[in-house]
Amino acid sequence: MYNLKEIVDQIYYVGVNDRQKEAFENYLPLPHGVSYNSYVIVDEKIAIMDTVDISVVSTFLSKIEAALQGRNADYLVVHHMEPDHAGSIELLLQKYPNIQIVTSSKSKDMLKGYFNITDNIKEVKEGEKLSLGKRELTFYMAPMVHWPEVMVSFESLDKILFSADAFGTFSTNDGGYIDSEIKLDKYWNEMRRYYACIVGKFAIPVQNALKKLSALPIEMICTLHGPVWKQEMTKVVSMYDKWSRFEPEEDGLVIAYATMYGNTQHLAEAVAEGAVSAGLKNVVVYNVSKTDTSFILADIFRYKGVVLGSPTYMGEIYPMIEKLMLAIEHRGIANRIFGCFGSYTWASKATKLISAFPEKMKWEMIGSVDNKQSVSSEKYNEAYKLGIRMAEAILNNVTDNK
Ligand code: FEO
Repeated sequence: MYNLKEIVDQIYYVGVNDRQKEAFENYLPLPHGVSYNSYVIVDEKIAIMDTVDISVVSTFLSKIEAALQGRNADYLVVHHMEPDHAGSIELLLQKYPNIQIVTSSKSKDMLKGYFNITDNIKEVKEGEKLSLGKRELTFYMAPMVHWPEVMVSFESLDKILFSADAFGTFSTNDGGYIDSEIKLDKYWNEMRRYYACIVGKFAIPVQNALKKLSALPIEMICTLHGPVWKQEMTKVVSMYDKWSRFEPEEDGLVIAYATMYGNTQHLAEAVAEGAVSAGLKNVVVYNVSKTDTSFILADIFRYKGVVLGSPTYMGEIYPMIEKLMLAIEHRGIANRIFGCFGSYTWASKATKLISAFPEKMKWEMIGSVDNKQSVSSEKYNEAYKLGIRMAEAILNNVTDNK
């Protein structure tokens, strides 16, 4: 039934698209779906590289059957135990009970806890090798990219890195699996959003993994989500390097605001107009009540400037702006240029509270605008000037983060 995609000679893609799930990890929207990637290496020994989410297990098992062509698999290499990849281990082993699991020591506790699997596990250590015949796998630990048990493996013949979550993207694979075969437009921001939401907190572990892997002559990356990276591999690694050093990709400004009756939005428009008037082309404006935090967070990883705007709501910051601030704080995003604005009717609180945020994040504060009730032309001009100053700071790169 399945005409499996051969990534290289005798290595097959057996991953499955999920076009049903609304939200990854039950909170991150999936407008383009997601893929759970798995691969089968056919050699003297056969190795299955990870499984898939339990929701798509039946398609996965059919693909495995097609790849094995009547043979039995020898190994299941488990790079990562999160259930979007490990979820089908139990059913795979029910069907092929002689498969030996090859994994890191930290996975053993999880295999027991999730599936009560304790037997026929081969624990591998840093640098350990596993021969499959003409191919050989070498294992490297990559703790906290994205869970503590994560490891990656390097295949010797075609120089493929099986990278677990690293370099993964949201979005399904639509008929093509290797980057050179498909149009990649939709993947770039979905990769940025995946990084920002899933991996973004673990900057130091990502840097450690990048340093370790830089010594390998990698020619292709098989990640657990999204396309196989070959042609764009250098770009993808460089994006990960930038994000994990909190280095913006380019000059640009994210303005994220909340509004109840339009006054705070009025200020957002003024800041944006001011920034563009000063020559900044990448200006994106988000209403936090309309756009999910994950998309805004992705652009905060991308651009150098952030302006937040909030009405005073019950004497506090508007809830969706607080949510965004918490997401930024949890990831420890560094090296940004900041401004803020707010509106109130009888008691000013939000602008003051948000003004304390850059100190906490060690960001450079450019200025704030606080507005009472309707926006006067004076306040509009103040917000416009804040946009100009933000743009000048961004374009002149005058950050002095301490
Ligand atoms: Fe795609 Fe951390 O799992």
